[in-house]
Amino acid sequence: MFFKRNFPNTRLRRLRQTSALRDLVSETHLSLTDLIQPIFITNNKDMVGKISSLPDIERIHIEDINREIDMILELGIRSVAIFPVIDPDKKDDAGTYATDEDNFLFKVLKNLTEKYENLITIADVALDPYTSHGHDGIVSDNKVLNDETNIALKDQATLLAMSGAKIIAPSDMMDGRIDVIRNHLDSCGMQDTIILSYAAKFASNLYGPFRDAVGSLNNLANASKATYQMDHRNIDEALHEVALDLNEGADIVMIKPALNYLDVISKVKETFKVPTFAYQVSGEYSMIMNAVNAEIIDKNVMLESLMSIKRAGADAIFTYAAKAISKELKKDE
Ligand code: PBG
Repeated sequence: MFFKRNFPNTRLRRLRQTSALRDLVSETHLSLTDLIQPIFITNNKDMVGKISSLPDIERIHIEDINREIDMILELGIRSVAIFPVIDPDKKDDAGTYATDEDNFLFKVLKNLTEKYENLITIADVALDPYTSHGHDGIVSDNKVLNDETNIALKDQATLLAMSGAKIIAPSDMMDGRIDVIRNHLDSCGMQDTIILSYAAKFASNLYGPFRDAVGSLNNLANASKATYQMDHRNIDEALHEVALDLNEGADIVMIKPALNYLDVISKVKETFKVPTFAYQVSGEYSMIMNAVNAEIIDKNVMLESLMSIKRAGADAIFTYAAKAISKELKKDE
C-alpha cells in the first residue's frame, strides 16, 4: 500500500463524523442470518430452567420447543443448534442412548422438520451428553478409542439425519470420522445432509458452563479432553485438521472457541476459502455476560466481540447471545 497524501490533506476523522457516515464505510457486517442459537432441551421437568453458569439461558422442556422456535424465527434467526440434556440414569460407559431409537432428541427433530420448513436444525454428533464418564467417545483402559467411537458416531449421525437434522455437526475430534460418517450417510441415501465439522476444536478451558448445562461436568470430574481436542498452542495443526476434514467431505468447517482463536479463523478462511464458522463458546459468553450484569463493562462488548469474530473471517457464528443481539441488530435496521 502506498499513500502519497499525508496530513493535513488526509484526515481519517472526516469519515468518522456521524454514525451514518461510519455505517456507510463500515467493512464488516453482522446480519441475523449469520447467527446460530444453541438450545438445550430436556424431557425431564426437574431439569428445566436456568443454568447458573450461563446467564439468561435455560434448559427447555421438549413440550415447549415449538414456542421457543416460534420466538426465535420471529426475531429473524433461522438456525438453531440443539443439544440434549440426558437423564443421569440413561448415561452409560458407551453412551448407548445416543443411538437408541427412543432417544427423545430424534422425536424433537422429526417434529421440527415437519412443522418448520425453513428452520435450519444443527445436531451435534458426539457421545459426551450420553456417557457416564463425560468423554466424547468410548473409553477403555482410560483411553478414548478412536475407531470404535467412529462406528457409534456414524450410527448417531445417520439417526440424526434420518430424523431431519439439516446439518449434522461432529464435535468429537476423532480422527477420520468425517470420512466414516459421509460414506455411511451416502450409502443410506442421505447425500443431501450437510456436514459441519468442528474441524479445529481446541481443548479449551472455556467449555465449563456448557458441560454444566448438559450435566457432563460432574461426569467428567476434571478429566481432560486433551488426547483428542487440539492443543491451544498450535495453528499449523489447525490447518492440517481443516484440510483433512475438507478432503473427507466436510461442507463447512468450524473453529472453536472463537475469541481466543481469531488468528486461526482468519488463517483458515484465507487458506481454504470455504464456509467457515466459529463458536463463541459458553465460557466466552459467560465471561462477557457476567461482567455486563455486574456493570463492570458495557453491554456493547457482546456486539464488539461478535463483530471481531466476523472481521476475522467467520461466515456464521454459534452464540448464546443470538436472541438478545438480534433485537439490537433489528433496532439498527
Ligand atoms: C461436545 C460439545 C462441547 C461443546 C459443544 N459440543 C463441549 C466439550 O467439548 O466438552 C462446547 C460448547 C460451549 O462451551 O459452548 N462435544
